[in-house]
Amino acid sequence: MRLPWPVRPALFFMHEMRASPLSFVVEEFIPMNLTGNTILITGGGSGIGRRLAEELHRLGNQVVIAGRRKQALEDTTSANPGMKSLALDIETPAAIRSFAAQVAAEFPSLNVLVNNAGIMRPEKLLAQPDGLADAEAIVATNLLGPIRLTAALLPLLQKQAAATIINVSSGLAFVPLALTPTYCATKAAIHSYTQSLRYHLKATSIEVLELIPPYVATHLMSGANDPRAMPLDAYIAEVMGILKTQPTPPEICVENVKGLRFAAESGKYDATFQGLNAARTDGN
Ligand SMILES: NC(=O)c1ccc[n+]([C@@H]2O[C@H](COP(=O)([O-])OP(=O)(O)OC[C@H]3O[C@@H](n4cnc5c(N)ncnc54)[C@H](OP(=O)(O)O)[C@@H]3O)[C@@H](O)[C@H]2O)c1
Repeated sequence: MRLPWPVRPALFFMHEMRASPLSFVVEEFIPMNLTGNTILITGGGSGIGRRLAEELHRLGNQVVIAGRRKQALEDTTSANPGMKSLALDIETPAAIRSFAAQVAAEFPSLNVLVNNAGIMRPEKLLAQPDGLADAEAIVATNLLGPIRLTAALLPLLQKQAAATIINVSSGLAFVPLALTPTYCATKAAIHSYTQSLRYHLKATSIEVLELIPPYVATHLMSGANDPRAMPLDAYIAEVMGILKTQPTPPEICVENVKGLRFAAESGKYDATFQGLNAARTDGN
């Protein structure tokens, strides 16, 4: 995450020196900046969002989680005293506007936004119901939701000395699982949007990161007990290690996701697409 401005030039200098023969001397002095932030995590009542919230809470941040299920939020905050929660249905534009106003009033020091809330549903494109309800809900939640919430919170984030936006995409942004076409399309769009957002904000004190998970064992669809999914704790541990590097890489990729993330760059896109879609016919 981004450090307050006075600290950054020195760190940048140290980072540059990593590649130099003096790197063994310098790396030990690079500090972490994962403490003292006010962090909002959408979808923080379960899965990846909850585990990230818990790790960041433990490190001494004021963490605020948001979602629809009151019970999931309460379970998480009561297991982590001091963590706060707010109700949010990110599918609804009016709810996002009033939520952002509430965040600004109750947490004026908010400096980290994690756009993590998401839904994933299988779709049969040859047998679509008339209303395309699933496709529309997925776009509203996974794509319009982060776009709307980011826009609503940018004025507040811009007031902070240093701020970070983390958008959660997916390895499936880079190679689609045909069983979940709209989900994969929204994640590809979030990757694209994140790049543009980073470009728009390059002269501000807001850094923009992208968290690109592989298949992780959560209740997102039906992967919680799938042995092919990466265990949630192992995933979060690897992510926290990456977040502690300074400067943090713009794309947070654990080893398990690199096959998907870099399929095109490595010239293996077609084989990866075929392999993924032949192996994953079960809805995961
Ligand atoms: N698990 C994987 O394999 C995987 C892989 C790549 C990317 N991801 C991404 O990681 C993120 C977290 O997913 P997860 O795996 O941790 O699954 P999860 O446990 O189902 O988490 C999704 C969270 O999003 C929240 N959410 C869904 N719709 C919402 C809405 N309309 N308004 C507010 N919150 C909403 C849910 O809370 P409520 O239901 O209480 O609202 C839930 O806490 C998602 O963006 C997902 O696409 C996951």
